[in-house]
Amino acid sequence: MMEARRPVASLQDVERVPTGITSLDKIIEGGLCRGDTIIVAGQPGTGKTTLGLQFLYYGATKCGENGVYASVIESGDKLKRNARRYGWDLDRLEKEGKLQLVSLQSTMKAGVSTALETVLESLHSINARRLVFDSLSALMTAFESNAEARSFLHIMVKFLEGARCTTIMISEVPWGKRQLGTNFEEFLGDGLIVLDASFNDSRVRRRLYIPKMRGTEHRLEGYDYYLTRDGFALAPTPIPPDKIR
Ligand SMILES: Nc1ncnc2c1ncn2[C@@H]1O[C@H](COP(=O)(O)OP(=O)(O)OP(=O)(O)O)[C@@H](O)[C@H]1O
Ligand SMILES: [Mg+2]
Repeated sequence: MMEARRPVASLQDVERVPTGITSLDKIIEGGLCRGDTIIVAGQPGTGKTTLGLQFLYYGATKCGENGVYASVIESGDKLKRNARRYGWDLDRLEKEGKLQLVSLQSTMKAGVSTALETVLESLHSINARRLVFDSLSALMTAFESNAEARSFLHIMVKFLEGARCTTIMISEVPWGKRQLGTNFEEFLGDGLIVLDASFNDSRVRRRLYIPKMRGTEHRLEGYDYYLTRDGFALAPTPIPPDKIR
């Protein structure tokens, strides 16, 4: 007897949120799943902030989705200055109520709950559908234990999912290290994008890997990527297996 065919969930079942990095969206079935939290991990200068800002800029200008960039690291002024080099006018978006840059440098001193409350208030005030948190690593240091961090972050991820707010959490990887974060952050997210920089032929070579993207069919090979005057861009094809070292 013929076995009944398993119904295959169609691509339309999942609402995709384009990142605005066309070359990345192409390899993840059109974008991130709405309400998911994705960890973007990388060494210094690999373009984590650029990717996050591009995600918000695209959302606000092309998708009608407001966004919040919460930073423990950089001030709003510096983010605006650097974004201008890519042609992204964050000032204008802020004035139009489509974007909020939240600096958590001083708030963190009042405690992690206060800092996260500030982020939630900001999300609420502009009805944001996109959030970038820079960085998870900096937030981690504010918790007393890994267990506390884990349960707190779990609640936050669930809340963001309920709010249908698609989130990028940035995780900092020190130079020369391959191991990410504190061992659990990468399990926490629905997806993990790794930005890797290594010295190759007397220059820095940047490669993007996707070890995890729940509910998405994706390649496992790395992609060369570039930071250009228009932002983040991936090479159109993955690195051939014999070139992966
Ligand atoms: N206008 C530009 N055109 C091309 N490349 C640029 C431009 N502006 C910045 N870059 C590149 O982007 C890098 C910094 O990107 P970004 O700040 O997004 O990295 P990051 O991973 O967030 O760094 P950090 O770990 O320090 O926060 C710079 O080191 C530079 O190589
Ligand atoms: Mg950064």
